[in-house]
Amino acid sequence: MAESARSWHLDDPGAFLGSVAQFARPRGPDLLTRNEPILAWVEQRLAAGVFPYARALMESPAARTTLRDGAGREATGVNFASQDYLSLSRHPAVTEAATRAAHDFGVHSAGSGMLSGNTRMSLRLQEELGDLLQAPEVMLFPTGWAAAFGTIIGLVRPYDHVVMDNLAHASLQQGAASATPQVHRHAHLDVAAAREIVSGIRAEDARCGILVVTEGLFSMDSDVGRILELQEMCRELSATLLVDVAHDLGASGPGGTGEVGAQGALGQVDLVMGAFSKTFASNGGFLALHSPAARVAISGYGGSWTFSNALSPLQTAVVSEALRIVRSDEGEALRVRLLERITRLRALLADGGISCLGQPSAIVPVPLGSEVVARLASALLAERGVLANLAEFPAVASGTARFRMQVMADHSEADIDEAARAVVDAISEANTRLSAAGLLGVA
Ligand SMILES: Cc1ncc(COP(=O)(O)O)c(C=O)c1O
Repeated sequence: MAESARSWHLDDPGAFLGSVAQFARPRGPDLLTRNEPILAWVEQRLAAGVFPYARALMESPAARTTLRDGAGREATGVNFASQDYLSLSRHPAVTEAATRAAHDFGVHSAGSGMLSGNTRMSLRLQEELGDLLQAPEVMLFPTGWAAAFGTIIGLVRPYDHVVMDNLAHASLQQGAASATPQVHRHAHLDVAAAREIVSGIRAEDARCGILVVTEGLFSMDSDVGRILELQEMCRELSATLLVDVAHDLGASGPGGTGEVGAQGALGQVDLVMGAFSKTFASNGGFLALHSPAARVAISGYGGSWTFSNALSPLQTAVVSEALRIVRSDEGEALRVRLLERITRLRALLADGGISCLGQPSAIVPVPLGSEVVARLASALLAERGVLANLAEFPAVASGTARFRMQVMADHSEADIDEAARAVVDAISEANTRLSAAGLLGVA
């Protein structure tokens, strides 16, 4: 590509430095204008072509698509930036279910779950999810975020404690912070550390509630929570376990049961919550549980259920149809194909000298290291016709930036081969160019 046609440049080293964390606590009485420094930083990065966030789809989130960034630049290519692990968002049976629901119910839920927003389709979806997860009680929420946040604030009070994995999703962290000042974070996947905190709390207070929070599949590292060990520990110490299965339910595990099924914990976890937005082709979230009392408490005190409109009829019908496919032979075949593509991508990257993080899942985290290299590699990757999300500090630890490549069942082998080549080349070219410009190692 001619240098003049490039969508990025190295003329402004400032665009490769800093993070949103440094603008998080602006001072001054004007809540609006005091945020001008972050605007300037984002614009600086956009001008240099190294701000791969808030991009908009110009077409559907299929295996190939086009994204437009905030400066109006478009990039077309193989799409690893969308969350549609089984490629159900354009499945004919799923779109047909949406059309039928629009015809039968209209397109709006017209109320919260508390105020008649659910439909007979919602009741059926609750039953189907309960059957999959072997839990008698299921609540539906308008988003996965709402499910995480509403569950925690619905159950936990300021005199209670939340003990959570350091890498738990923002929805869980913000729910915990809103519910109680007593939030404890432990080292990632470290059950012994969690146990030490929980037993310390229990030794001092026999009556407080303790919510332990983990995830099925952690989306930044592609590794998995120790569900059974944590549940056992919770039983022993009178704590309650919440597992967020947003990324694994439907996409992995026997019959699509995700990590709960894969770890032999079906029907045994206190609280299983998830999002429909990764595999089930829709916004929305859910909570599956065994306690009717907890369900009623969350419906009263979990604001995101009580005071936010329910899933629309279209969303409910889409999730229901997606769930039917997830549980069918077709779903099994899609998971097999997805895993083949994941394995192929990880193997090709390994051949290119890149050791992906974690274990095989629909999320393939490609380590890039410094934010400087990561930002240029991301621009070079898009230039090569491969679209992937960039995770950098503070979403991940400083100096551990990575591409978060989201694989879909519809990716062809050729897509995977093209992507692996492009990733290896983009990282190599980023290092060469930054080194030539004297920018390697600046931070
Ligand atoms: C682990 C986890 N939980 C919850 C959510 C929130 O889900 P949603 O985006 O569907 O609201 C996400 C979304 O990124 C997530 O990754």
